[in-house]
Amino acid sequence: PRLVYVKRPAPDMEPRLAEMLARVQDEDSTSYKPFADAAELTRLLSDDLAILLTERFDAAGRQSTGQGRVPHSNLPVPVSALIGREAVLQDLGALLDSDDARLVTLAGPGGTGKTRLAIEIAAQRASRYPDGAFFVDLSAERDEAGAYAVIARAVISSGAGDSQPLEALEEALRDRRALLVLDNFEQVTTAATGVAGLLQHCPGLTVLVTSREALRVRDERVFPVPPLALPDAGSATLAVDDALESAAVQLFVERAVAMASDFSITEGNAADVAAICERLDGLPLAIELAAARVNLFAIDELRDQLATRLDVLRGGPRDLPVRQQTLRSAIGWSNDLLSDDERTVLRLIAAFAGARLADVDAVARRVPVLDGIDVVEGLGSLVDKSLVRSIRGLDGRPRFSMLQTIRDYATEQLDSAVELAAPVRQAHAEHYTERALQLQRALHERERCVALSAMEDELGNLRTAWDHWLQAGEVDRLHELLEPLWGFHEARGDYAAAIALGDELLDVLAQQPPTADRRRVEYALHLSVVRATVAARGFTPDAERRMRAALQQSENVGDERRRHTTLRSLATLHMIQREFADADDVARELLALAEDQQDPTMLSESHLVAGTVSIWREGWTEGLAHIDTAVESFSPSAPSALFRVGPHPEVVSRALAGLVRWKVGFPDQAAHESARALELAAELGHPYSTSYALFHAALLDMWRADWKAVAANGEDLLGVADAHDYAVWRALGIVLRGTAMVGSGDADAGLAEVERGFSLYHGLATPPVFWPSMLLVRAQASAMAGRLDDALE
Ligand SMILES: Nc1ncnc2c1ncn2[C@@H]1O[C@H](COP(=O)(O)OP(=O)(O)OP(=O)(O)O)[C@@H](O)[C@H]1O
Ligand SMILES: [Mg+2]
Repeated sequence: PRLVYVKRPAPDMEPRLAEMLARVQDEDSTSYKPFADAAELTRLLSDDLAILLTERFDAAGRQSTGQGRVPHSNLPVPVSALIGREAVLQDLGALLDSDDARLVTLAGPGGTGKTRLAIEIAAQRASRYPDGAFFVDLSAERDEAGAYAVIARAVISSGAGDSQPLEALEEALRDRRALLVLDNFEQVTTAATGVAGLLQHCPGLTVLVTSREALRVRDERVFPVPPLALPDAGSATLAVDDALESAAVQLFVERAVAMASDFSITEGNAADVAAICERLDGLPLAIELAAARVNLFAIDELRDQLATRLDVLRGGPRDLPVRQQTLRSAIGWSNDLLSDDERTVLRLIAAFAGARLADVDAVARRVPVLDGIDVVEGLGSLVDKSLVRSIRGLDGRPRFSMLQTIRDYATEQLDSAVELAAPVRQAHAEHYTERALQLQRALHERERCVALSAMEDELGNLRTAWDHWLQAGEVDRLHELLEPLWGFHEARGDYAAAIALGDELLDVLAQQPPTADRRRVEYALHLSVVRATVAARGFTPDAERRMRAALQQSENVGDERRRHTTLRSLATLHMIQREFADADDVARELLALAEDQQDPTMLSESHLVAGTVSIWREGWTEGLAHIDTAVESFSPSAPSALFRVGPHPEVVSRALAGLVRWKVGFPDQAAHESARALELAAELGHPYSTSYALFHAALLDMWRADWKAVAANGEDLLGVADAHDYAVWRALGIVLRGTAMVGSGDADAGLAEVERGFSLYHGLATPPVFWPSMLLVRAQASAMAGRLDDALE
């Protein structure tokens, strides 16, 4: 919508303007607001902006609750202007225009400006990729699987569901015109084949890679990124204008002025500036590091400093290895100039995958050798010296980060300082384990979204900690850290990552002596992995075998909370097998256990199970009473059960209560409960719960014969299922779609769709919990279509 503000009264307004405004006012496409003075205009603007922003925010929220839309672009916005590169951008553009260039690698040594160039060209061409331009930073990844997972996270807004991320990506990008920018690919070269495969499956996809080395896969087009252009060499005097024709000199001057506002390039220093840039091979990063020192040295001193440091390396051909040496020396030089404390802080932060100031400080406090070092000041001056950058995290707060080349250097330095490396890494792992637990608690509170972004910001650090404990074989720590990581992946719908963590820990456990403790932890883990497997892949024979084994194990373990979890699974198993008397017994045991423990979450879940069992036996009133108690005893601030998978219990309770209230004759209350279930799932930002609520809302719509609503909820369900690759919900969504078509009079096509959903479901070895619902819907569809025999069957 367009909005025009007009000053009224406005005695001096030109007649032609008045006429135009009158015309605009007549058109319906523009809103029109009068204001009297500046104060009123300010107020109007800020109100309207607030409204616009909330609308935007709501729209974004709607998207992220999972209707499966691909977000448009997440390209970073550089803080400073691009210097030079006109010709390079043109050549690169021409290369990307040619049909066969779908995998282009920007290659060059560290600090040449590959990332900067990739961001620039991607931004310039973003409009050619209507389905999005995605920037993926691979610098924290160490293997193929990790690489595919981050790519999937960037493209498919919240996790890749359970199937392999690569397959999920193929699915998501198959018919899309999109650009993927994969930054720092040299970290994960083995992922090259996977990316090449992705390109084969997705004809509209273009991949732009930055890497210190070529990928060496078929159809790759390597584009070597040259350093910045240098001034014409040779003359002892250089006119300022001539010097400034060189991009390298421009960059130096710009960064030098940012550092010391009184710096300027003059006839007197132009030749020295040019000499510095030349000695630094026109490498942007090296130039930035040198320019950061202009308040320490006069320009001719700076030139001599660098000369001593770099001249040793001169003489060979100017190929890549030499440039690498140049950069290394520039970083080394910069490092040598640091004070002892600053150098220590640089080593310290090499242990972090980017960090907030508070976390760096907290880690430092845990390391006795760092006593007396002012981390805050150290970091501040490292930022001034361009060795560390200040960026913003996904949660909007400032963080520190390092360019990969500098981090590599600093990591070497840390490793060579033996008295520092081990305690720093240990402290880092300890601190981030605690931080993860703290964030996990926030996941259960109202600030869930913020906590999730914060966790995503820290994912690199959490995984560094995880690897540290893995290497040390610290089972307890791993177990502690597993919960929050599991919670994060679960919230993002990334069950595959959660299962992988569980399996890694099980591997470590297998190497420990078989104590009672180990058995207990193993048992809990087995259960969690089983539940995650069931939630995402269904009752595979493997999952069922693992569950039965776990149930047997539970006898020996004697951990009440976990016994509760196991019993819940057992109740489900009995219900599925129509062993209702047994299910009833288990429900009673669950209730007793929960009363005994005085645990509101357990109590709520036990009532939910008891209610479900009653409902299955058509004891509506009793069932409803249990479910209402479940909702009442549910306490949102209580930590939820360990490694929760599947829908949120309150969403389940509300959705079921809705259906039962309809059965017992309270349609209004039924609608209210169903709406509340949907609302709650959205508030939780939990796609699996949303799926659950949507499906049950559609069942209610079906009973109300509101076919439009069935279709709408079914389509929403399909959207969530696609976005998170929930195979079960996809099948159910298709069956709902078919039923809605039958209901609206399109019997043949509708029944065909129902059958399609069924065969999809058959192929899945899915949780049998959904069979009754599926059959119910199919029977209804068949009956409506007049196929009574089929319906009875
Ligand atoms: N043309 C340019 N204009 C302005 N600044 C630039 C330009 N090229 C590079 N830079 C700056 O130089 C530094 C190094 O560039 P960049 O990070 O793109 O290098 P890289 O080749 O990606 O390095 P790495 O291999 O370590 O990832 C960055 O701070 C970047 O912003
Ligand atoms: Mg880079």
